[in-house]
Order: sequence, then structure tokens, then C-alpha cells
Amino acid sequence: MDEQFARDVMHGLSTTPKYLHSKYFYDQRGDSLFQQIMELDEYYLTDCEFEIFQNNKEDLLQHVTTNGKPFDLIELGAGDGTKTKILLKYFLEQGADFTYKPIDISNNALNLLHRDLAQNIPTLKIETLQGEYFNVLSHIESIPGKNKLILFLGSNIGNFLKPVAEDFLTRLSTILAEGDMLLLGVDLTKDPAVIAKAYNDSKGITREFNLNLLSRINRELKGDFNLNNFEHYPFYNPVSGTARSFLISKTRQTVTIDRLNASFHFEAWEPIHTEYSHKYHLSELSKLATDSGFKVLKNYTDSRQYFVNGLWRVAHNI
Ligand code: AVJ
Repeated sequence: MDEQFARDVMHGLSTTPKYLHSKYFYDQRGDSLFQQIMELDEYYLTDCEFEIFQNNKEDLLQHVTTNGKPFDLIELGAGDGTKTKILLKYFLEQGADFTYKPIDISNNALNLLHRDLAQNIPTLKIETLQGEYFNVLSHIESIPGKNKLILFLGSNIGNFLKPVAEDFLTRLSTILAEGDMLLLGVDLTKDPAVIAKAYNDSKGITREFNLNLLSRINRELKGDFNLNNFEHYPFYNPVSGTARSFLISKTRQTVTIDRLNASFHFEAWEPIHTEYSHKYHLSELSKLATDSGFKVLKNYTDSRQYFVNGLWRVAHNI
């Protein structure tokens, strides 16, 4: 992982335009900043999904229970699991028989989640798995007679380029069995001003979250980024539904990273691209479902129609 980080930073800062992959936001500091982001009113995504789960947990359980048979509840990118806990608690109260299998790139986040759940929901069966989305797909093996519900929440899918999202979902449906389901949380297209605020909050936490990438390079790879010389710049393009985040060099400068034995030159106002957060139209999502081997059973939306949790069933033959 460390080696991979070094290689990716080397590659990303040597490429034009420069980029750093958003998966590297999530070290211990980044996990904690992201938790703070989720508590912001301006970052509406979390509240919307919370509302959707509160209002639809009964309906959801009715759709996913396979007449009392045990099932696996597999969550991709579980993070701190705050929203998922609504479902976990409710499903257990209703006597559903399932094992919760959270998967995350951050070992730190998984350990915190495991500890939290063991304490607060002691009857929950839980198995954690650390890894990246594409890599962990091969670990989701088929257990005969046991159905799966995959949770992919919080618009985590938005980090993928749209064609990559389709590729990922296609691979997912291929390794799943007929009857398995996916609950996919996606941020919908909306007033660009609302999106702009979500990625540029007034407390500056998202700014810090973005800049933490440079701090992480300083910490782990002995870089000498001066954070004051970079500006957080999010930008939403309503044509493609793409929110992108950048760190922009405010001056002409050279940054040295000791562990890479390399220096990187920045022109004044040169950007480093750090994140994609794609937004989707509902119609785009139904096409995406069909094209990737699923059938949409339900679209649960919040009162503002900002966000959708689509319940999709694997449909190999359509
Ligand atoms: C966790 C990837 C869904 O893209 O909205 C929050 C991360 N970035 N604020 C998103 C994020 C800036 C978030 N995801």
C-alpha cells in the first residue's frame, strides 16, 4: 500500500495535467475529516440517505428477505457505517438472519466500525474485509443457497468515471447470482448552486479534506508542500454531471518529495485534479442498471429529490 502510494504520487505529479487519486484522502486524518463533512448541512448527501433509510426500512426489508433464509449483507466502502446502522438495527429487530460484511479501503475505518458495532449491536454477526473496490470483487464468492444484498451507499459510485462505473457494476452483476440485490445510493443532478456548496462548505472542512492529500504526502513521503501555496477549488459541470475537485498552485513553485527522490515544478495557477463526484439523472440510472445486468425494483428518494437509493436485482438474462 505504501509502495503503491509512492508510485501513484510519482505518476500523478509527473503527468500533465497533474492528478492525485481520491482514494488517498482516507488516512486517519482524512477519515475523521470526512466524518465531519457528513455532519454538515451543506453536505446534504448524508442527510438524504438517512431520511430515505428511516422512511423505507420496512419496505426495503420486505423486498430483500428471502422467506427467512440467511443472507449476506455486504457493504462496499462502509466507512463509519452511521447510516447502515439504521438498517442493521431494524433488520435484527425484525428477526432477519444475516451476516454483515463491511469492506473498506481504510483499515482504520474498519477497526473503528468493528469496535463500535460489537459494543452497540452485540448480536450482529460481522466479518470485515480490507481492500479496494475492484480487488475485493474476487473475494465476494458465491455461497450456494445464501443470497446477497450488496450495499454501495453515499454516492461512492460517483468517484468512478461514468464508463468505469458501468464496468464495475457489470463485473459485480457477473459475480453475483440470480436473485442477489444491490442497494445503490446515488447523488442526483440538481441546482448547481446546491452542489457547489456541498463541495465548498462555509466551515472550510472540505478544503481541509482536500489539502490533507498534500499533508499526507508530507507525512508519509517526506514532501515539503507548503499548504498555504495551494487553493481548494471544486467545480461542477452540469453538462456531464461531474463535480471535480482541484488543488491549485497559487504560485510558481517547486516541491520536493524526499522518499521519491524527485522534485515537481508547478506553474502559477496550475491545478492538481484530486476527485470526481459524479451526479446522475434518474433516467441515466435506469439505463445504467439495464446495461450492467440489473433490473431496477425500486427507487427510494428523499423529500427534496436530491438523492436516490435504487434497489436493483441481478437479471442476467435480460
Ligand atoms: C464519499 C466519495 C461520496 O464524492 O461526495 C465529500 C467524498 N469529497 N466531500 C463525495 C467527498 C468531498 C464523497 N464520497
